[in-house]
Amino acid sequence: MKYVIGIDLGTSGTKTVLFDASGRQGFEAEINYPLYQPHNGWAEQDALDWRNACFDTIRQVIKGSGVDRKDIVGIGISGQMQGLVMLDEADEVLRRSIIWADQRTGEECRDIEEIVGRERLMDITLSPALTGFTLSKILWVRKHEPEIYKRCRQILLPKDYLRYCLTGDFATEVSDASGTQLLDIKNRDWSEELLTLLDIDPALLPRVYESPEITGYISREAAKQTGLSTSTAVVGGAGDNAAAAVGTGVVREGRAFTTIGTSGVVFAHTDDLKADPQGRIHSFCCAVPGAWHVMGVTQSAGLSLQWLRNNFYPEDQEYEKINQDIAQTPVGAERLLFTPYLMGDRTPHLDPLSRGAFVGLSAMHTKKHMARAVMEGVCFALKESQTLLTELGVCANVMSLCGGGAKSPVFRQMLADVYRLPCNLPLMTNSAALGVAILAAVGCGMYSSVPEACDEILKFKEAEKPDEKNAETYRQYYEVYRGIYPALKETYLAMSKL
Ligand code: XUL
Repeated sequence: MKYVIGIDLGTSGTKTVLFDASGRQGFEAEINYPLYQPHNGWAEQDALDWRNACFDTIRQVIKGSGVDRKDIVGIGISGQMQGLVMLDEADEVLRRSIIWADQRTGEECRDIEEIVGRERLMDITLSPALTGFTLSKILWVRKHEPEIYKRCRQILLPKDYLRYCLTGDFATEVSDASGTQLLDIKNRDWSEELLTLLDIDPALLPRVYESPEITGYISREAAKQTGLSTSTAVVGGAGDNAAAAVGTGVVREGRAFTTIGTSGVVFAHTDDLKADPQGRIHSFCCAVPGAWHVMGVTQSAGLSLQWLRNNFYPEDQEYEKINQDIAQTPVGAERLLFTPYLMGDRTPHLDPLSRGAFVGLSAMHTKKHMARAVMEGVCFALKESQTLLTELGVCANVMSLCGGGAKSPVFRQMLADVYRLPCNLPLMTNSAALGVAILAAVGCGMYSSVPEACDEILKFKEAEKPDEKNAETYRQYYEVYRGIYPALKETYLAMSKL
């Protein structure tokens, strides 16, 4: 029997999962690590924590599954996107990684648009300059930590740092590279024009592959440390959302999914390049060679629930009590609304200064109402992305769900009601890890294409259908919810100056 491994480098932890050729899950291991928030709006992680979690979970999976390492033919890596990893001449990590959620780079974004021109930037990257993307983080380090920038010899995305640790190769692939804001999205390679205009040495960047292509093999050193074989190939893999798309079968026109991880994403596949003229949703290369996807991002989806748990339900590690409380509270939380902008907002407001708010808090409300309002606020934020995708003509009539949040039946039904769409759940969980394992299986020749592999491997549970009465109530709340951001925009700006 042949096996493939999917590694998913998430924000809360790294998960490594072994699958057989038919996608059946063998063994999984996960290790969590801290997120550092030294200032309001900053978010950093230690790349060495990622490396240790990756190596330890691989060791656990090989030991736990008992498979012969020679039978593990390929590995795919999925990762949180946009984080900045900088290495020096000796390939040592130069500073903590500034990750996707970080919002410190408003000034650098203004610099980028001034130098490149907003329109030209939109032509090449299909996005205005965004605080979440890697480019503004590179310029922040260049401006604020010039000594570190001077010593930098290699810039990598989080999952590509793991690839380097496993293979010794510097490489990336199109889906994750799309989030750097240095990729020419149409031509699927680095934009020489942007690199020249912004004075960034192209030698700092790794080579770009398509997602199922083999980029290298396990190095002798990594084989020794993990128990893997040097005959195991590592394929390009994908950014976590493009990976989850493969793991949920969103690899053809007319398919879409929502993931609720730390962030929340509404994602649809498209064979032609499509873009929102205002750049409120991202148009990125997807993991199917030659195709793209569009996606809207809610910065704090699972993160809002995690914040709620840490501060109001500290004992409730598995979110059981929170789900019970939400289920016992009426739809609309008796007129309490929440905006989930705890780390600023990406889709649709593109505002790093916005922050969370409870609106309508009354003396009759309890923490149960607050819990319900938080989950509903996350659903409303995702609904804004779904609305934009529908306007672009790419949204599907069934939504697949994945990510930690999708484990909750309450969350799934709420999304079906807010979207007014049936929502189905793949039978196999760990969609991002499965997605890159499928890419590895394709890269190693076990399947002829990504869609063919998905057709063979994936199965779905029956869909959650919208409850018409709740959907109508949510429609009314959603209208009011949409007015909150415009009403508070100036307040957020004023608060950022305090
Ligand atoms: C995507 C994004 C997030 C991260 C989360 O643009 O910022 O979804 O990939 O891991």
